[in-house]
This record gives sequence, structure tokens and C-alpha cells, in this order.
Amino acid sequence: MKKAPQDEIFKLKGEFEQDKRTFKVNGGIGIYLDDNGKPYVHPVIKKLIKKLRFDNFNYLPISGDAAFLDESTKLLLGKPLYIKKNKFIAKQGVIGGTNGIYIFLSLAKKLYHNPKIIIGLPTWENHTKIFSYLNIKAKTYNHLTDKNEFNYEGLVKLLRKESKSIIIFHGGPTHNPTGINPNNKEWAKLCKIIKFNGHEVLFDFAYMGLGENIEKDCYPVRLFIENNIPISVVISYSKNMTLYQHRTATLLIFKTKLSEKEYIDSYLKYNFRLVNSNPAAFGELLVSEILKSKKYKKEWLENLDYMKKNINKRRESFIKETNNKFKYLSKCKGFYGLLNLNKKQIELLKKKYGIYLLTNSRINFGGVVPKEIHNIAGAILKLK
Ligand SMILES: Cc1ncc(COP(=O)(O)O)c(C=O)c1O
Repeated sequence: MKKAPQDEIFKLKGEFEQDKRTFKVNGGIGIYLDDNGKPYVHPVIKKLIKKLRFDNFNYLPISGDAAFLDESTKLLLGKPLYIKKNKFIAKQGVIGGTNGIYIFLSLAKKLYHNPKIIIGLPTWENHTKIFSYLNIKAKTYNHLTDKNEFNYEGLVKLLRKESKSIIIFHGGPTHNPTGINPNNKEWAKLCKIIKFNGHEVLFDFAYMGLGENIEKDCYPVRLFIENNIPISVVISYSKNMTLYQHRTATLLIFKTKLSEKEYIDSYLKYNFRLVNSNPAAFGELLVSEILKSKKYKKEWLENLDYMKKNINKRRESFIKETNNKFKYLSKCKGFYGLLNLNKKQIELLKKKYGIYLLTNSRINFGGVVPKEIHNIAGAILKLK
């Protein structure tokens, strides 16, 4: 019997924890560490956890906490678009972004039978694993050109050839693992082609606010909704609210007709009840407390901005310390970028220098702290 493959990120995390060396860096797992290398929680979250009394562990409604879902929709759309379009959005609280993508794709499979999926590669590993588990075949294109730019032409060619597919994008300017996504001009042109060819879109939004800011990061989602393109959005609060283990996320599905929205809502509930039964309340209640309150929301946005700026600083410092060899990384947004190293080099970094990276050579600048950057850069420059 052939066992299922291990998850690379968590296998690496296990090896890292067993490593007894004093200098070691886990640049693999996608979490943000503070400048001392310790797991970081936003100050506003710490404050609220102390203040709120969580003493009601009753089940939530199947869809989740109503205020959480509503505030998430407002955050994503902004007030004016929310007022216009909220009633067309089916909503489900999900158990982290991963579960949101799984629920979305299993629903697409049920309702569309053989959904045609389009996705750029490389992408976050779990995407392709979920496709394979659900027996969904995806059409792929190269996400990047060989100049490390977004492969706009490659995608457009595929979009024009296909019709009525579901295109999976990473939300905003961030992308896992490349750090590169379409720019606003490209989003606007993509929006027209997608509408013309009757495609739908799933935005996997796992780093909202960590690209530029909430408003700018939400631009493509808002543009597509304004143009009445049926889109779905998974918003994960794992990274931007530092809630990783609390599995807090929403799946929002925008339809152009009320009857379709109601149909989807019923299936979301049905599907979620079978797979998860009930959402994870702790994170939902925390996020809704933050988004409902002007004061806490402001604090959260400040915390988020601090985190984003710090990631950018670390990226710039890495570029400098590696003598501009990775200058192309300065265009990346969010946690990640690709170092374009080969498997042998990745293995050497781990064995000889205690630097743990994924085999696709993704580096997470959120997890690489200032005092380590000099050593990491030195080790990488020594690679042949
Ligand atoms: C692109 C992308 N989507 C979704 C997720 C899922 O996040 P979570 O399930 O932890 O909320 C991640 C996490 O790394 C991600 O990078």
C-alpha cells in the first residue's frame, strides 16, 4: 500500500524543530515572526483576547457569525459597493482559507459536474493537491515570464481559447510563491476578456492588506463585481489577523441574480454541514469585534501596516546583502519570492547552514528576521 505523500511545509517544520544548531532559519512556513524571531500576534488581538469574555461555546449558525460575515463583506467591497451588491452575495464562514477553497471546489464539482479550472503555475501547493483529491483537471499556464514578470500574454491566450471556466487568482497584488500578480491595467483588461468569454473567477485572498493596503489590494475584486462577473472570494484571516491556528476565513460567492444567490447559499450550508458541520467561532467573534469597532479596526490597520512595512524592509535588506543578485525581488509583494535555486542548493542550505527553504526555493520574508539576513545572504552567495 502506497502511503499518501507528506506535506512539505509541515515536514520541514518538523525537521527544523529537531535541528539542534544555534543558527537555524525556517524560511519555509508562511508565518510572520517578530524582529526577535518569535511568533507574532497583533497587539490589537492580544488586547481583545484579554478583554473579551469567551464563555459561550454554543454552536454558531451553520453559515457562521452574521456580523463576521457582514463585516468581512464590507471590508472586501468598501461601503458603496457593499450597499449595491451585498444582497447578491452568498456567505459561509469556513475553517481557514484552505477549507474555503476545498468547499468552493467541491461545490463547483457538484453543481458544475466537470468544472473547467484555469490556474497559473507555480501556485500554492494545496491548490493542485485539492484538484487532484477532488479529481478536478486544471488547465495551466506559466504564472511568470522568464523575466520574472506576470505572464499576462500567456494567460490571455488561454482565456481566449477557453470559455465558461473558473479562473483561480490569488487576491490582490500578492501571490504565493512568486510575489508577483497582475498590475491594475492588466486586471482591467483581464476583466473585459473574462466577461466576454463567460468565465467565472475564484480569488484566493490569503494576504489581504499585506500587498499595499486593504483598499488597493481589493481593487481587482471590486472591479470584477462592479462589472457583474460572477466571482467567489476566500478571505483568510490567518496571516493578516495573525490567527493562523484559529482557522478563520470566509467564502463569499457573488451572483448576478438573487435566485442564484439563494440557491448557492442553500448549497453552501448543505455542503459545509456535511464536511465541517459548524464554523470555528473564536476567530470569527474576534474578527467581527475588530471590524465592527472604528477604534479596533484602526488599530488593526496600523498593526497590519507595520507588519507589511517590516516584511518589505527585510526583503530590501536581503537584496542589498546579496549584492543585488536578487534585484527582481524588489517588485514582489507580500511574504514571498522565488530564489530560483535548484534542489541541490536548497538541500545544501539546510544541511550546511541550517537554512530551511521549500524545494521550489520560495523564501518567506515574514519569517526571516533582520539579525539573520546577513548570514542567510552570505550562505546563498557561497552556493555554486
Ligand atoms: C495562497 C494561499 N491560499 C490559502 C492559504 C490558506 O490559509 P489558511 O488555511 O491557513 O487560512 C494560504 C496559506 O498559506 C495561501 O498561501
